[in-house]
Amino acid sequence: MRNIFTICIITLVLSCKNNPQIHESSIIPKPIKTEFTNSDFKINKNTTIIYNDSDIDFKKVANYLHEEIKKNQNFNLKIDVSEKISKKNSILLIKDTTQNLSTEEYLIIVTRKNIQIFSSTAHGSFYGIQTLLQLTKITNQNNQFTYSNIIPGVKIYDYPRFKWRGMHLDVCRHFYDKEFVKKYIDVLAMHKMNTFHWHLTEDQGWRIEIKKYPKLTEIGSIRKETMVGKNWNEFDGIPHGGFYTQDDIKEVVQYAADRYITIVPEIEMPGHSLAALASYPEFGCTGEPYEVEKTWGVFNDVYCAGNDKTFEFLQDVLTEVIALFPGKYIHIGGDECPKEAWEKCPKCQKRIKAEGLKDEAELQSYFIRRIEKLLIANNKKLIGWDEILEGGLAPSAAVMSWRGAESGIQAAKMKHDVVMAPNKQCYFDHYQGDPAKEPLAIGGFTDLAEVYSYDPVPVELNDQESKYIMGAQANIWTEYITTPEHIEYMALPRLCALAEVVWSQKEQKDFEDFKTRLKIHVVRLKAKNYNYRTLDF
Ligand code: ACM
Ligand code: ZN
Repeated sequence: MRNIFTICIITLVLSCKNNPQIHESSIIPKPIKTEFTNSDFKINKNTTIIYNDSDIDFKKVANYLHEEIKKNQNFNLKIDVSEKISKKNSILLIKDTTQNLSTEEYLIIVTRKNIQIFSSTAHGSFYGIQTLLQLTKITNQNNQFTYSNIIPGVKIYDYPRFKWRGMHLDVCRHFYDKEFVKKYIDVLAMHKMNTFHWHLTEDQGWRIEIKKYPKLTEIGSIRKETMVGKNWNEFDGIPHGGFYTQDDIKEVVQYAADRYITIVPEIEMPGHSLAALASYPEFGCTGEPYEVEKTWGVFNDVYCAGNDKTFEFLQDVLTEVIALFPGKYIHIGGDECPKEAWEKCPKCQKRIKAEGLKDEAELQSYFIRRIEKLLIANNKKLIGWDEILEGGLAPSAAVMSWRGAESGIQAAKMKHDVVMAPNKQCYFDHYQGDPAKEPLAIGGFTDLAEVYSYDPVPVELNDQESKYIMGAQANIWTEYITTPEHIEYMALPRLCALAEVVWSQKEQKDFEDFKTRLKIHVVRLKAKNYNYRTLDF
């Protein structure tokens, strides 16, 4: 790769001699190297997108680019296959296996003659395309957006810092339909994020169809009413529900895969399970009638860890989940599981004795380990919130560190993979401005500067231990977020800052430069009809 870049720079220097035009870069996340030239390319109706036909995925990426240019510039470009990379008036997606490019790495060279995107995979080509799309100037006149057909002459070389670049969405506290989920995936893709953590089950609603247990959605997807604002004693009297059929899930998984985003489904256990228990009360410790929860918080009724039938149920559920999600990771929650019910439950106490466990914390560890075995047997990897460390971490579990960095540090030192999502910097349900002027939020304060300044690799880790930090993600819990517009408002522009945290190199980060680029970038968000928090700088 470095060779190609050297050649490019030499060509660049030669070609720039005559009065180069200075272009502004507004690309987010910031690429490793960007060198503008004065050799601009003009897209016109005869421009052809050319891909390497030895790889079916390149064809898909070519089609994606075709659709975007059709939407943006209204050109219905031809798509062709060719080996000739010298072709004029073309956008070439070149599969380059000679330069040892990593999976997500790409190089773009824009000249007056053509646009070349080099990568070793279609995945890398897709990121080259995202960058290309951000090279287009957009003008806004009374909310009429015009995309220029001029692509500035440039050479860009780029690859990501982290392999886990994630965003989470809670569709349980409030349900969001598949069309919105796709729009959310689109904005992730635009920022070169590659992981969507889909929080699918909760106390307040079960959102995924499980064929063997239809009551999970017949009963568990609907709560009778919802508390109003932060008043735990006042309810709106309006049923709230919704779920995804397995066909919906397949559609969204494919949509995400086409954008190089892996979906990590979360099926919560042993806590945050009231919607499941309302549907199948026999899997709770008391078996009493339970209700899909109407308020927010942490609840004592959890799955019974002493009942083998609970594990059979979860095995069946996970078997259907595994069949739907091709990614490596299944998130099993594991957070905020009170132990009161287990302390009083004869079955749970019997389990503690029979397994020689010290206490209920070890019973939680037993629970997670048992689920991990099942996932491993199905070639999947378990990931859970940092409470899965309590009572002993399952042998190959990955940890999502949310209460701070400490659990992530501990897990990395134990040679376990880690995703950092500390609430201080990564909880996008927090306020991002003066609470008096913001829509109601859960609390906290995580503004743009806080997100931007975050470094996922804690200083406490040495180089060897740091390798276990797979990356970071932000979480959007929706207790107080009831509309798609509000989700977008909470996500944007903080997602833009996070994208730079997880993609760009640490040494390149510069908040002032980021803010300058962001002012241009938000026009792109607006043109795509995203609702973002107005910049206050
Ligand atoms: C969490 O925020 N309870 C993971
Ligand atoms: Zn029990």
